[in-house]
Amino acid sequence: MEITNVSEYEAIAKQKLPKMVYDYYASGAEDQWTLKENQHAFSRILFRPRILIDVSKIDLRTTVLGFNISMPIMIAPTAMQKMAHPEGEYATARAAAAADTIMTLSSWATSSVEEVASTGPGIRFFQLYVYKDRSVVTQLVRRAERAGFKAIVLTVDTPRLGRREADIKNRFVLPPHLTLKNFEDLDLGKMDKTNDSGLASYVAGQTDQSLSWKDVKWLQTITKLPILVKGVITGEDAQLAVQYGAAGIIVSNHGARQLDYVPATIMALEEVVKAAQGRIPVFLDGGVRRGTDVFKALALGASGVFIGRPVVFSLAADGEAGVRKVLQMLHDEFELTMALSGCRSLKEITRDHIVTEWDRPRIAPRL
Ligand code: GLV
Repeated sequence: MEITNVSEYEAIAKQKLPKMVYDYYASGAEDQWTLKENQHAFSRILFRPRILIDVSKIDLRTTVLGFNISMPIMIAPTAMQKMAHPEGEYATARAAAAADTIMTLSSWATSSVEEVASTGPGIRFFQLYVYKDRSVVTQLVRRAERAGFKAIVLTVDTPRLGRREADIKNRFVLPPHLTLKNFEDLDLGKMDKTNDSGLASYVAGQTDQSLSWKDVKWLQTITKLPILVKGVITGEDAQLAVQYGAAGIIVSNHGARQLDYVPATIMALEEVVKAAQGRIPVFLDGGVRRGTDVFKALALGASGVFIGRPVVFSLAADGEAGVRKVLQMLHDEFELTMALSGCRSLKEITRDHIVTEWDRPRIAPRL
């Protein structure tokens, strides 16, 4: 069957993957309200396209932290990709490089920073979880730097793991033939099988619940790499991120896997953008499945978006070719959206190109 949009990969992944693995990727926290909302909220934004503008040439290129990429669509960190496909993070890295965009590697990848770097050139960021043992963090950051990673994406919404009930029922654990590769040499690469989600127990044992803003400063003392703070969804925290020296913010609710009943990221975006006052770029992840979603995020002030589940599902369905196709489909849909809205470059996308349900409560249909 021909795949014509990003969402179609999920059903294929569900068929192909063991239930424990599919459930791990697909799940959100608790009632999964935010999980649905992340995608649904995009439907509360409609377009105000401009017509009779020469759109025979459209430029999607942009610059993120000084790096020139083909489009404002990048790859979010998602953990343990070799559960989805034997080539896991290698395939994702190659697909991102081929699309000339940025890949973010998860701390909990099943391939190490060095292995991913060995796939060839590419602009890559490293997502960091801060462990209680700070020497673990220092070593990992050094390795990421040496392997040529260009930024640290600091996840700040996970002092504990959110309650993902499917993982509890399935007694989720990393399959025995795999390890959290970055931690293998530190003897932290395995997860014990417990009467719970194995990952939740791992997090409770290893990650630092005391993490606070001062640690963002501490991180700046151990690395010169720019730090993107991922997991901000309020204006207050956006201001603090600026104050504490973040190079950028990712508006994220961790794919709705942490605190349930937080707003969809697309609904939190504008508040964060306003608070950041243009001092640092603001990005978004969560629920992006269409080129129209990308346009809406940019119209609300994002400098770019990251995609998570579409990558793991397409990886499961078709390996590197699947991830390449996802990036191509989003590129093409986004370009079409720009053409049909009368925008030739990213800077021509404005707030006036959209109207949200919260601007004019009756304009968008209530779905
Ligand atoms: C990993 O970051 C997860 O949310 O499962």
